[in-house]
Amino acid sequence: MPSNKGSSKEDIGPPNQSYDDAYRLLEDLPTGLPAGEDLRSRVDIALPEELPEIIKRIHDIRDQRAAILHKTFIGSRYLQAHPEEFTEVRHAVDAVREYSDNQSNRLGSGRVAEVYKNPNFSHVCAKVVRNMTRYRTENSVDVETGFLEDLADLNVDGARTPHPYGFIEDINLRAIVMERLHAISVDDLTSRRAHILFSEEFDPARFVGTLSRYVEAMHDLGIYHGDLHEGNVMVSINAPHTPYVIDFGLSKKIYFSEEVKDEPEKDRRFLPQISAKLKAWRENIDK
Ligand SMILES: Nc1ncnc2c1ncn2[C@@H]1O[C@H](COP(=O)(O)OP(=O)(O)O)[C@@H](O)[C@H]1O
Ligand SMILES: [Mg+2]
Repeated sequence: MPSNKGSSKEDIGPPNQSYDDAYRLLEDLPTGLPAGEDLRSRVDIALPEELPEIIKRIHDIRDQRAAILHKTFIGSRYLQAHPEEFTEVRHAVDAVREYSDNQSNRLGSGRVAEVYKNPNFSHVCAKVVRNMTRYRTENSVDVETGFLEDLADLNVDGARTPHPYGFIEDINLRAIVMERLHAISVDDLTSRRAHILFSEEFDPARFVGTLSRYVEAMHDLGIYHGDLHEGNVMVSINAPHTPYVIDFGLSKKIYFSEEVKDEPEKDRRFLPQISAKLKAWRENIDK
């Protein structure tokens, strides 16, 4: 979340293009190695003396990137504990309240929440909880943000999740502020026949292949999505149209293999369904 420390309200009105570009650049930085992978296995030419230094540099860069991109802020309770951050946190909370009040900023909706773009920063959106009854039975916004943080460095041929910027847990506002994906959900794509957006090179089979590998990599980290339907998988608007996985409201983290049971299968069951839907849509366009 951009810091507005020291700026007056007038300063944040119009879109700040260079700020926006800088964030986009940060988002596009390679997230490096898949989580958990040992760098040494990738380096054939052994450089015994320099390698630890190189590894340390990579970790430093990743830490810096994480510090810039992931800023956690919450509502009034947090402010009481961290009065020094009052201006910045209040600003973020007020901004989300304001742009999520305007329906023209709405990007999509699901069972629990609605997602709104920040009209001043094209890389930012907020998922705002609307259905409290359902919310109480699902992961809280801090837990869901935790999943996005755990997965922030996982990138399988471009397939990934939106980067989290923070969450708000206030009495009247529960929201996750995150990277706005320039993407469309499989559900919206196939129901709106939004084929004008897509070039010929969109290949449903390759898309689902990448998605499957992403899901397996997620499972290797002990994370099970639990709700991988067409509304929770997005397709990048730009070629090569990679998959994005969103909505960790029903996800589980399981550390001990005995507890996993049928969790992997639950996720895998969604894949043929997504594949069939995309193929049918594609055939319809090609006619
Ligand atoms: N990071 C994002 N960038 C752009 N659109 C998003 C993003 N996250 C969600 N959306 C849109 O909002 C819809 C609802 O979000 P989701 O997290 O699935 O909410 P719910 O938990 O209510 O199902 C998605 O189907 C998608 O269209
Ligand atoms: Mg959803």
